[in-house]
Amino acid sequence: MKALILAGGKGTRLRPLTYAMAKQLVPVANKPILHYAMDGLYQGGIRDFGIIISPETGEAIKKSLQSWKKDDAELTFILQDEPAGLAHAVKIAKPYLQDDDFIMYLGDNLINADLGSHIAEFQQAKYEASILLRQVPNPSSFGVAELDGSGQVIRLVEKPKEPKSDLALVGVYLFTKQIFDAIDRIQPSWRGELEITDAIQRLIEDKAVVHSRVHTGWWLDTGKKDDLLAANNVVLGEYMNYLIEGDVDNASRLSGDVHVDEGAVIRNSTIQGPVMIGRNCRLENVTIGPFTSVGDDCTLRDCHIENSVLLEECHIESVPGRIEESLLGKGCRIIKSPTSQESHKFLLADHSEIQVL
Ligand code: DAU
Repeated sequence: MKALILAGGKGTRLRPLTYAMAKQLVPVANKPILHYAMDGLYQGGIRDFGIIISPETGEAIKKSLQSWKKDDAELTFILQDEPAGLAHAVKIAKPYLQDDDFIMYLGDNLINADLGSHIAEFQQAKYEASILLRQVPNPSSFGVAELDGSGQVIRLVEKPKEPKSDLALVGVYLFTKQIFDAIDRIQPSWRGELEITDAIQRLIEDKAVVHSRVHTGWWLDTGKKDDLLAANNVVLGEYMNYLIEGDVDNASRLSGDVHVDEGAVIRNSTIQGPVMIGRNCRLENVTIGPFTSVGDDCTLRDCHIENSVLLEECHIESVPGRIEESLLGKGCRIIKSPTSQESHKFLLADHSEIQVL
């Protein structure tokens, strides 16, 4: 069993962050989303990984995965020239996948499923494909499955205007080599992509055994800012433990699950977990948390931040009021204006968003 991880595509929904980085590398609890996918697959027994990359962000994906090292895991990178769809990604991966069964995993999805048992069931039952479904409040944003009375999948539609159920396709699929023949018989959709949903629909029409499993744990599609903050909250809440590796003075008060990474210095501050403070951060006179991740090398002074994600090297100083529900890219600076009490001064990249009093 091989894995095919899709880490190409365009990240338009998380702009402006994704002007500068691949959406699969945006961190949740200070770890890139893609690394959670790799960990889940590795724990599920996968050792042979094919990773779809794009020309724009492929090098960054490769570099990031150098820090995800396992002695017994082999990584093969497959360049997809343009984001022509999930089924297109499978098609170009054929020389790597050959005749093997494979698990396809969308690199921007976070899910707490036991992939090992999913894979074992697929292999034992000899299904031609197996999909994971989850009930969602907004099915029109996803691929949607229609089941018959016995739970058998009868129809799959990509982002339907009038969904026939609330069961969305989660970004984890299991296939045999039969999927290649189905992909050869589909046409690009209205959005110009070869849809894997259409290819699986072909398998259903061919009377192949397409199994489905309804996932009841959490599944986080990190497409937009609020989704990403929600994902950060869930992962911090679930996995964070109290661990102080940095230097915290006696004037600081830490409560709940707080992780202070190596080299971080905390002075005269209050931190309410779950909170993750990255390596070599410097915090002075701040109130942080709950539900906040601070990336490596950030400097925070005289400010209050909660329910937020800060990437590396941010600098926040002397900001009145509370910063909340915010997502800050690498190296952002928010400081009190040294010249005027009356005006705001901004330097914002395209599609940045600011809410002022
Ligand atoms: O998140 C689940 C949904 O993912 C499913 O419910 C849908 O049925 C499925 O089509 C997919 O929809 P999205 O529109 O959310 O897919 P997105 O374009 O975001 O791509 C998913 C991942 O695959 C992402 O990591 C980027 C990567 N990708 C995407 C395309 C289109 C590629 O590597 N190559 C591509 O050509």
